[in-house]
Amino acid sequence: MVLELTSEEREMLEGKHGKATRKAMEIITALGEIYGAKRLIPVSSVQIAGVSYDNLGEAGLEYLSEMAEDGQTRVLTTLNPAGMDMVEWKKHGISEEFAENQQRVVDAFEKMGVVTTCTCTPYLIGNLPHFGEHIAWAESSAVCFANSVIGAYTNREGGPSALAAALTGVTAEYGLHLNENRFAQVRYEVQTELKETNDFGFLGQVIGNRTGKAIPYIVGVKKATTEQLKSFSASVATYGGVAIFHMEGITPNRTTIPDKTEVVTEEDLKQAQIELDDEEAVIDFISIGCPHASIKEIAEIASMLKGRKVSDGKTVWITTAKPTKDLAIKMGYYDQIEQAGAYLVADACCAVAPLKGRFTGLMTDSAKACFYARGKNKFKTEIRTMKDCIREAVS
Ligand code: F3S
Repeated sequence: MVLELTSEEREMLEGKHGKATRKAMEIITALGEIYGAKRLIPVSSVQIAGVSYDNLGEAGLEYLSEMAEDGQTRVLTTLNPAGMDMVEWKKHGISEEFAENQQRVVDAFEKMGVVTTCTCTPYLIGNLPHFGEHIAWAESSAVCFANSVIGAYTNREGGPSALAAALTGVTAEYGLHLNENRFAQVRYEVQTELKETNDFGFLGQVIGNRTGKAIPYIVGVKKATTEQLKSFSASVATYGGVAIFHMEGITPNRTTIPDKTEVVTEEDLKQAQIELDDEEAVIDFISIGCPHASIKEIAEIASMLKGRKVSDGKTVWITTAKPTKDLAIKMGYYDQIEQAGAYLVADACCAVAPLKGRFTGLMTDSAKACFYARGKNKFKTEIRTMKDCIREAVS
């Protein structure tokens, strides 16, 4: 199969639009050829992952600096969480050296015209595609949310391929950009009621583990809030390889309904919780906001913390996007949270901040946060409802 390029795309590949654009077009066309794409298609929005200096290191920063020499974004582009709150990092115990390097990363993106809001929920703060729109996003939870809940079209991009889409404004048409690859493959019948947001995390964990890359069609979920769907998207993408799901009566995608059916019971969800609870966990870190907390969640947390005090020996992070934090400041939620001794942390999260060695046990309401806390930071974990996490914080 031959990948056909327009004259402008050929010019980009020939270096007529600068060095960075040429490199970006090389990445896009190489992917197109590997996956048998016939053409490139325009994207209207990009979300870049791989922003924390903790994950990028000097080699990653060098690559970005090189791309920033003459690279410029052609479409709305936002960033995934960085390794720290870009303003209040000092009070969260981040070192000067790390802060300097993280700032260099964000500066390189800014030079390229990227909107340097660092969040995994770009759809909550203005990078919101509509149904059927082609985009190139890299953050796995946001990819799953965009494809499934919004009905936009994106593959699960890597950091470099998302940046390449931002600098060229196009992506190769393969995978989830094609309708034929978006049909459900396994039907999951949920036979239990989902009450709290973390129940959706458990459901994502159970289905993700079972389904792998097979696209799920989920029945039996009666209703779900945006916050619950963001939790489910994060979890199913983390524990499986899923970048799209269908939830009957809740998500907008059209699909055929598969015959093959699996059942998810209350017992399965309980088992999922047991798997994420380390018996010997000593909780010294509580983190909520994975994926990044919405203003509704922050309002709820603020009202629970109002007039209370976080107990000695515990650190509490509520992680969110900077525009949401600004709104929380305006609404007085920030003061209620911080006066209780908890931190409202923008731009970062407990998985990508340099926290290894600082804590031993994490309590969270997020199945995805447990996965990274164990794998990357070697913390023990306990998963609870948001309310129970706050109770633990002030106990
Ligand atoms: Fe977002 Fe970090 Fe969780 S990137 S989905 S808050 S692990």
